[in-house]
Amino acid sequence: MKDIITLGIESSCDETAVAVIKNGREILSNIVDTQIKIHEKYGGVVPEIASRNHIEAITRVVKEALKEANITFQDIDVITPTYGPGLVGAVLVGLSYAKGLSYSINKPLVGVNHIEGHIAANYITHKDLKPPFLCMMTSGGNTQIVYVKGYCEFEILGKTRDDAIGEAFDKVARVIGLGYPGGPKIDKLAQTGTANIELPKTHLDNLDFSFSGIKTAIINLHHKQPNINKADLCASFQKTVTEILIENIKKAIEQTGVKTVALAGGVSANSYIRKEFMKLQEQNVQIYMPDLKLCTDNGAMIGAAGYYRYINGDISDLKLNAVPNLKIGER
Ligand code: KG4
Repeated sequence: MKDIITLGIESSCDETAVAVIKNGREILSNIVDTQIKIHEKYGGVVPEIASRNHIEAITRVVKEALKEANITFQDIDVITPTYGPGLVGAVLVGLSYAKGLSYSINKPLVGVNHIEGHIAANYITHKDLKPPFLCMMTSGGNTQIVYVKGYCEFEILGKTRDDAIGEAFDKVARVIGLGYPGGPKIDKLAQTGTANIELPKTHLDNLDFSFSGIKTAIINLHHKQPNINKADLCASFQKTVTEILIENIKKAIEQTGVKTVALAGGVSANSYIRKEFMKLQEQNVQIYMPDLKLCTDNGAMIGAAGYYRYINGDISDLKLNAVPNLKIGER
């Protein structure tokens, strides 16, 4: 069978990222141009600044991706941009570029759901992974347990009712003075602390999550005790949220009988979360997680998800618009 080359284009938040992917599983190039340094001084992503920087970066990043993969536009079989969820102005930059390219080189366009992309990062790292499996999807904008029934068939079993877990990491880090992005900073500091501070867990009777209670508890604790040991606070926060994730994934395993679990999303780069999930293998659960560089936003995961949508026949037309609240599985 002929190889299928996808050009994955990601611009839904603060990374302009383009990758060339072969047959949905193999990276030929993966260029990530991050704006972290630009947004750092504001303590979070400023949407309009993100859009403007995507505009400046996109042509250069596409060229770099083609050069590194040693291909030309004519070698591309399908162009697969993120079309949601994300910051609308940011998504529109990558999507509009992809539409223009699709028209000019006369190659099909397949819009990709960013969350499906995070899940597909696992297909690149683990060539043996196939649906069905459960996915613990944890990022800056989303926290959900997805039942991946097929490459293009998804059911959300539980989701956050308030903050996404990455949002909680980022807000806690900001309040205790660690800066942006909070996740990696908390991860690092927690390694020098002890999880000795009791923090609240919100128990819901289904597979949903709630992280606003623990976030508020930490903010209050920090205001009342400004000299509290930050490393201990980070370690305690990380341990508590990890317990919440693991309790719910265990319920999902029980409910579905599916004993294969993949992690996905930026927060799955967290070293403590990775270590604790690996321990589930002792209970006969098969655990998968993307390589660290594929956890946070990148074009490779979008090219991989785009490949499976393409072979499923989900071709988009040039009227495709950005959908900021796009749900997984929705077209
Ligand atoms: O997946 P991602 O790059 O963007 C979204 O699609 O949302 O995720 C970004 C989130 C941020 O909240 C960031 O703080 C978090 O992932 N993150 C981490 C770590 N690395 C990134 N959170 C915890 N520990 C980390 N090591």
